[in-house]
Amino acid sequence: MRIARWPAAALMVALAATTAHAADGGNDSPYPLPPQLKAAGEDFGAHVRADMLVKRMTLDEKLQMIHSKYQMADVPGGGAGYIQGVPRLGIPDLNMIDSSTGSGSTSQPSTTFPSTIGLAASWDPYLAHDFGAVIADQLREQGFGMGLGGGTDLARDPRGGRLFEYLGEDPVLSGVILAARTVGTQQQKVIATIKHYVLNDQETGRNGGNSQADERTMRELYLLPFEIAAKEGRPGSVMCSYNRVNGIYACENPHILTDVLKNDWGFPGQVQSDWGAPQSTAASINAGLDEEEDVGPTVYLTPDLVKQALATHQITEKRLDDMVRRKLYVMISAGVFDHPAKGGATIDFAKYRAFTQSAEEQSIVLLKNDSNQLPLAAHGVNKIAVIGGHADTAVLTGGGSGNTRDPVTGHFSGCGGLVFPRQTGCGWWPNPWMTIPVPIVKAIQQLAPSAQVSFAGNTDQNQPYRNYTQQEIDQAVALARQSDVAIVVVTQEGGEDFGELESLSLANPSNQDQLVEAVAQANPHTVVIVQSGNPVLMPWKDQVSAIIEAWYPGEGGGQAIANVLFGKVNPSGKLPVTFPLRDQDTPTWGANGTIPTDPIYSEGLDMGYRWYDAKNIQPMFEFGYGLSYTHFSYSDLSVKKGPDHTLTATFKVRNDGHVAGAETAEVYLGVNYNGEPPRRLVGWEKIYLKPGEAKPVRVTVTERGQSVWDTAHNGWKYVPGSAVYVGASSRDIRLQSR
Ligand code: BGC
Repeated sequence: MRIARWPAAALMVALAATTAHAADGGNDSPYPLPPQLKAAGEDFGAHVRADMLVKRMTLDEKLQMIHSKYQMADVPGGGAGYIQGVPRLGIPDLNMIDSSTGSGSTSQPSTTFPSTIGLAASWDPYLAHDFGAVIADQLREQGFGMGLGGGTDLARDPRGGRLFEYLGEDPVLSGVILAARTVGTQQQKVIATIKHYVLNDQETGRNGGNSQADERTMRELYLLPFEIAAKEGRPGSVMCSYNRVNGIYACENPHILTDVLKNDWGFPGQVQSDWGAPQSTAASINAGLDEEEDVGPTVYLTPDLVKQALATHQITEKRLDDMVRRKLYVMISAGVFDHPAKGGATIDFAKYRAFTQSAEEQSIVLLKNDSNQLPLAAHGVNKIAVIGGHADTAVLTGGGSGNTRDPVTGHFSGCGGLVFPRQTGCGWWPNPWMTIPVPIVKAIQQLAPSAQVSFAGNTDQNQPYRNYTQQEIDQAVALARQSDVAIVVVTQEGGEDFGELESLSLANPSNQDQLVEAVAQANPHTVVIVQSGNPVLMPWKDQVSAIIEAWYPGEGGGQAIANVLFGKVNPSGKLPVTFPLRDQDTPTWGANGTIPTDPIYSEGLDMGYRWYDAKNIQPMFEFGYGLSYTHFSYSDLSVKKGPDHTLTATFKVRNDGHVAGAETAEVYLGVNYNGEPPRRLVGWEKIYLKPGEAKPVRVTVTERGQSVWDTAHNGWKYVPGSAVYVGASSRDIRLQSR
């Protein structure tokens, strides 16, 4: 089922009234989803059925349910893991698959959706819901009943290798988007996994690096997106990560798995390991791990080892039953038990491509638009130069398990990563096998049929990483000089197990800045399109007239970008991550940019925009920033206190321009408490407004939304009297309560 989106329904992240105190162990939700997106509640019938099944199972059958013993090549239909069913009891097989940007680790052709950092840039939980639902549809058609796509580690280090498959730097934005995606996925009868739990915010020290953060920092930042997604999205599964958390491996860490997830948050689902993450048998099981995903050679939850642990009383049978019960509960409540995914369907790739395009159109962020350079007039420009960035083919997504397969050839659309062998010549670049039907150059030509559209760039199928030659730069400059507008496409690679970027400067080719600068000198109407999964530095920002951040746009990206260039789509995305002026300004750069294997989160709560605000550092483009082809004014703020300490901010937003558009109005709190950042996001509403139209906006903040983690009492503490800020970004504050 799809949820109607704007303009029919206003996009309100209504933060309804609940109270919260973690020490109560309550199931309170700090940031409730809008009622239309609510997950089904806990399924008590499924608990009863799971219980009855466990009672009828033999020990061997139970052990089969807690260990995915197959690797990709062995999973029917290709995929990441496989739990064999028990036909005697009607328990079906369960195939799982990565699904960050579409079916990832499968051998089957799949659609490449935009990267999830782009999804977060839409600030649209309704879109996130549909994103989850549409991907789930394809998963089921391919025979998968479980999708591992719910990445939500925070962008602590903006160079992070996997940022493209996460949701940015703010815990509330990430949590709400992920919760909505999870609901969409599970409504289509696919179990959703959220990952990687937790403090898995970098690839450096990927296997066992020790991330160290204090409890308050964890609760208020890094655990929070998981808490919101777990309580509001009710995913079947939480994937524990490779790293250690304060010295203890995440998959055998009783504090995060049992104290926090299962007890404080009341999570009824299962904890599955990242692939090959477990380090022990009894310690993991007793800490709360429910299922091991095996990539060999060292495995811990095999039937033999678990039997041994039972025999030596290192684990109890009760706990084993709990593990199996959780697995069955998840399968029953998500619907895959009674309706297993069969696969083998004929997939309507055109239908999926149309969705990817519309999702991308809502994710693109317009960063700069001097003198209304954009939108371009379809019939007003005679000569258009398109330069660089493989714009005549495509750059679709990042590498690793957030990757997908090409719909026609079945090749990966990005490469790299631990799980996949690198193919010859395969970077994350498009190669001859990429079959994207409408790359940027072609999409522009279609929208400006009377213009002469020429491409000068680096389509070199066999050498994807080489720099632009001087001759290529000269050719681009010559083309730009004789064109009415020059569109330069720049790209930044990223992917699982690639490590972090060395810098936010554009790399591979490393002379992309030089290309932009040379073109900008030749043509005053230079538009830059960035395709990246991370923030990038833009030393040429003041020399070009317009800049668009398109993220990794997926296979509908060419048309989506062209539609924004020509104003068929009015951009409405806003940054989910700060774009700094310099590497040195970022919270994790330290003295020389070295990324430690064992990161200490010494910046505490001052991460992301909170860091720039607390340290008074001017970013290039701040969190929450994004332009439109129209403009909006804000007025009439009133802040009212309600029952249970809720706080409601009401204000008006008006479209003052001449075209329709959507604005995300953001609400921040300044919580008056030692250590809190100047402002933190507590809610927003994305509203669609016709020219001249004004609408009231109402955002309610729960007591929890106004609370801090009180370390002395190990619980949440309500702090009265927070200042309320309403703005078009984290720094463009238009209204405030005092
Ligand atoms: C990644 C996970 C992924 C798993 C299965 C691991 O390397 O960290 O995100 O789900 O592989 O492909």
